[in-house]
Amino acid sequence: KTVSMSVQKTSKTVQQAEKMSQEFRQSSSTPLPLLHQVADALVQEMYAGLASEGGSDQLKMLPTYVENLPSGSEKGLFYAVDLGGTNFRVLRVELGGKTGQILSQEFKEVVIPPELMVGTGKDLFDFIAGTLASFVDTEDESIKAHFVQSGKTRESGFAFSFPVRQTSVKSGIVIHWTKGFKVDDAVGKDIVKQFQDAISRSNHQIMISALVNDTVGTLAGGRFNFDEETMIGCIIGTGTNACYVERADAVHKWDEPLPKSGEMVINMEWGNFRSPYLPRTFADETVDKDSVNPGDQWFEKMISGMYLGEIVRLVLARMAKEAELFGGNVPVKLLERLTLGTPHVSKIHLDNSPDLDVVAKVLKDVFEIETTTLEERKIVHEVCDIMGERGGRLAAAGLYGILKKIGRTGKSRNGSKKKTVIAMDGGLFEHHVRYRSYMEEALQELMGSDAAYEVALRLQNDGSGIGAALLAASHSHFK
Ligand code: GLC
Repeated sequence: KTVSMSVQKTSKTVQQAEKMSQEFRQSSSTPLPLLHQVADALVQEMYAGLASEGGSDQLKMLPTYVENLPSGSEKGLFYAVDLGGTNFRVLRVELGGKTGQILSQEFKEVVIPPELMVGTGKDLFDFIAGTLASFVDTEDESIKAHFVQSGKTRESGFAFSFPVRQTSVKSGIVIHWTKGFKVDDAVGKDIVKQFQDAISRSNHQIMISALVNDTVGTLAGGRFNFDEETMIGCIIGTGTNACYVERADAVHKWDEPLPKSGEMVINMEWGNFRSPYLPRTFADETVDKDSVNPGDQWFEKMISGMYLGEIVRLVLARMAKEAELFGGNVPVKLLERLTLGTPHVSKIHLDNSPDLDVVAKVLKDVFEIETTTLEERKIVHEVCDIMGERGGRLAAAGLYGILKKIGRTGKSRNGSKKKTVIAMDGGLFEHHVRYRSYMEEALQELMGSDAAYEVALRLQNDGSGIGAALLAASHSHFK
């Protein structure tokens, strides 16, 4: 008798959880018309943000002072520093002078100590300058000799992936922080000067020749590797953002002389996009409320890697509480913030074994849930799918908006197609294969089968770092 009762209870609670997940799928759904609405709302904000400073309270549309993207002829040894996500990287890149030619490349990656992410500018910059300095010290004798003989100072690009109001290609003021960083005393000051001062304190001589957002580095790297139809750089990683090549005369707020190239790369800071069309759920609200920047970065919080795991956890916790998913007692770990990382979500999502063994393992490792039924694991898998699908499709809508703004959507008149390349980087895009295919599919859906342009998303691995080195080369002090 007891046995049959417990069986009954399980199937009933599973049904309830299934119902919740169906409702959740419904409220997170992103049908094609909604994606078009999202894209159109984004385009409208793009115009507003280009019209005047503060013209959009969402999209900063920051001119980057990058008027020329790499041509391929960049040559020589350059450093790059890449600060923007969980990890910090320093790179040494030798450019060969031909398109896509990198003669050698070395890098070092370190995790930023969490206390430095919310500490003082001096501590943060001393840490990154120190890491750069010790990396420079590992140079081969031949490289050292080269710098001695040529009398040139070492130069580095600086990929700094936060909103910055640039004052030149080599300088800019931090507007605010995102992605869990909060270094208040660095805001409102020139970020390159702060870094350059820290480099001096480390007793090294290295000049920062280009300050670039990671999206801009990715776009630059894309041009260098792929081809000149690369018009957009986009990151889907810890955070998310995009930049693109705009006609300089369309940047109405630009009050300096128009660049000769007639073009200007614009860093959109699209993470802060917000629209009533975005299908937000209770989990998004909780994530926002508990973040260091409540009210900001809605789009980013719905689609990027820093938040995806937490969104999934919140949904599962609610199912555990309200529908007794995982049995009567709510697993304690499931109630702890930030236990589930995006790599876990990706692993769960990719599990296509009949018993969902990987899902079982993740639930055990992360939430200490020892045993689960196949039905429960299916629901967990489903929740990851819902969120991955939503994220990927919304990201595609963002890209479609940009393509629309630059006139690369619309139908082909005679069936022939031109090409547009989007250079992509970021851990979520790189590793979460399902997310990526949702994104690709949605973009094709949005473009339509008779589109005038064929759009390709290309992974530009290490985009920001290499791109920063390339832009340092093209803006070298010794040119
Ligand atoms: C955040 C930053 C932005 C960056 C993006 C991706 O949105 O504000 O500058 O490009 O993350 O790293």
